[in-house]
Amino acid sequence: MIIADGLTKVFRDRKRGEVRAADGVSFTCQPGEVYGLLGPNGAGKTTTLRMLSTALRPTSGTASVNGLDVVKEPQRVRSQIGFLSGNTGLYARLSPKEMITYFGKLYGMSGSRISERMTKLFDMLEMHDFAGSRNDKLSSGMKQKVSIARSVVHDPPAMVFDEPTTGLDVMSSRTIVQFIRQCADEGKTVIFSTHIMSEAMRLCDKVGILHKGKLYTGGSVNEILQKTGAGNLEDAFMKIVGE
Ligand SMILES: Nc1ncnc2c1ncn2[C@@H]1O[C@H](COP(=O)(O)OP(=O)(O)OP(=O)(O)O)[C@@H](O)[C@H]1O
Ligand SMILES: [Mg+2]
Repeated sequence: MIIADGLTKVFRDRKRGEVRAADGVSFTCQPGEVYGLLGPNGAGKTTTLRMLSTALRPTSGTASVNGLDVVKEPQRVRSQIGFLSGNTGLYARLSPKEMITYFGKLYGMSGSRISERMTKLFDMLEMHDFAGSRNDKLSSGMKQKVSIARSVVHDPPAMVFDEPTTGLDVMSSRTIVQFIRQCADEGKTVIFSTHIMSEAMRLCDKVGILHKGKLYTGGSVNEILQKTGAGNLEDAFMKIVGE
């Protein structure tokens, strides 16, 4: 289970002064659930997810992954979590197969476990056709699938995906959305961020709307519609963000 409790990050920016990129963000995500963090550009999604995944130290507040504190036990948290960040680089000259193998080894996995895991991930993400091609020859959708597979090669119980489908076509997005759903159905705790409302409606068990670092509503999509009196998630989003 992932718990964020008052997560706050203050950046000191020369021009803008203090930027409260995340401001008291609290939510929980249970195993088997997909939690969607929705928000416009600059809302604080990446900042929040980087704190959860130990890439960034909170200014204040806490978070834990399966009972492990992200500040006190970052190393152990990292073994429990798969994190897809927006700007993950791929090794240009390796193929997806070589890259996943490499990262599996870094995680200390045995050869047979890596190949079992790779087959499963390549099936789920429909990657077999290009598994042997060089990464730098792949389309952006294919590259994103490689990044996703890389981030979860060690089969972590918690998964955090920062805008996994942004910029991808309908086909690739659909495969990735189905992949995320399947992970949750297998009992993983999954958090992902997006600004695509239809995706959130289809995929998320719970959603939170982030705006200027503050998390507005929480709960299921239906609860948010009831609270805001909106007919759909996009209208609810605009009510919260547009004011
Ligand atoms: N390292 C940093 N130093 C200074 N300010 C930062 C830093 N990282 C993020 N910010 C600021 O924090 C705020 C939130 O940024 P963040 O990247 O978390 O938003 P986001 O919701 O992920 O946006 P996007 O949808 O564009 O990815 C922005 O105002 C951004 O400029
Ligand atoms: Mg971002």
